Amino acid sequence: MRTQVGIVGAGPAGLMLSHLLHLAGIESIIIESRSRAYCEQRIRAGLIEQWVVNLLNDTGVGERMQREAMFHSGIHLNFSGRLHYLNFRELVGRGVAIYGQQEIVKDLIKRRLADGAPILFEVSDASVQDIDGKSPKIKFKHNGAEQEIACDFIGGCDGFHGVCRPSIPDGVLTEYDREYPFGWLGILSESPPPEDELIYSYNDRGFALYTMRSPVLARLYFQCAHDEDIENWPDDKIWEELHARLGSVRKLVEGKILQKGITPMRSYVVEPMQHGRLFLAGDSAHIVPPTGAKGMNLAFADVRMLSRAIAEYYKSGKTAKLDGYSLAVLPRIWKGQRFSWWMTSLLHHFPNENAFDRRRQLAELEYLVGSRAASITLAENYAGLPLD
Ligand code: DHB
Repeated sequence: MRTQVGIVGAGPAGLMLSHLLHLAGIESIIIESRSRAYCEQRIRAGLIEQWVVNLLNDTGVGERMQREAMFHSGIHLNFSGRLHYLNFRELVGRGVAIYGQQEIVKDLIKRRLADGAPILFEVSDASVQDIDGKSPKIKFKHNGAEQEIACDFIGGCDGFHGVCRPSIPDGVLTEYDREYPFGWLGILSESPPPEDELIYSYNDRGFALYTMRSPVLARLYFQCAHDEDIENWPDDKIWEELHARLGSVRKLVEGKILQKGITPMRSYVVEPMQHGRLFLAGDSAHIVPPTGAKGMNLAFADVRMLSRAIAEYYKSGKTAKLDGYSLAVLPRIWKGQRFSWWMTSLLHHFPNENAFDRRRQLAELEYLVGSRAASITLAENYAGLPLD
């Protein structure tokens, strides 16, 4: 097989990269180790920045999102026994939308297949080769047969545990890493969320987040130990914790738990995000803790830039944008890292903290809701910083 751009990974980054390239008249093939059903059902955060809403609409994949997403103007912070609302639309003129990551994945897969794109699911033994030369290759097994894609460029969109990043030679990459001493236990429940918009709860027992997928489907999370075993959390214990961390500010209606799992918390960036003709995008190059839901938004910003750089190459033969890809996307990534780390630090209990730190966190929360300057700082980051 031959194509212009070989893409490893059919998550949001790989699919959107392929879609944007197609709109620029550039061919790609996507390979993916999981099944289509797995990709379409994998539950992740579900919050998109305003510019992502526009990107989906402007590139013709926003129709269902426009109908089914929930458009929010702000968030509630719950502390000291009271809800405090930050209205992003009033503060910075833009909001966010709640639309599950897997819904975007479904929409993109459907559109890519309708446009005739090859997406090969359930491949195994994938590797990328000759990334230093002019004709890199992706090798893999599909339906029991060895296959090879020869291409001009490779998009490494295969996530944190993928094969692309480790195929870059030793000594090229620098990693920046932080692990957090806690995780999130998350459930999807057949019940209405306690509020129309999200509640971030700072509580003596630790952080909790009350989000949603629809008016009758709540997505609820709370901070737990980093090595927590989900087996130790029967449903009634989960509800007890969620009630306690919400307090009396709203009533929490219980429902059937459709899914539960534990999300690890980590910050990670690799620099540079490219080597030869291999370009990393999304989780293969950077991970954020879930607080603030920046992961997919950052992945889309990467592939927006990468698709433009590749398009410039095919249009004019110039490689300036490709050469500068990593330097162009890293400033936004680091701002996303800073924001995710800050929101995590603001709202969680850390094991080695004392009463001073609790008071300091409360003072910061009060400052946030009491100062217009501080509220704007949160709002402009949460709703998405302006694009370059
Ligand atoms: C969601 C997840 C987040 O981590 C967040 O900060 C906001 C929303 C979500 O899954 O809806």
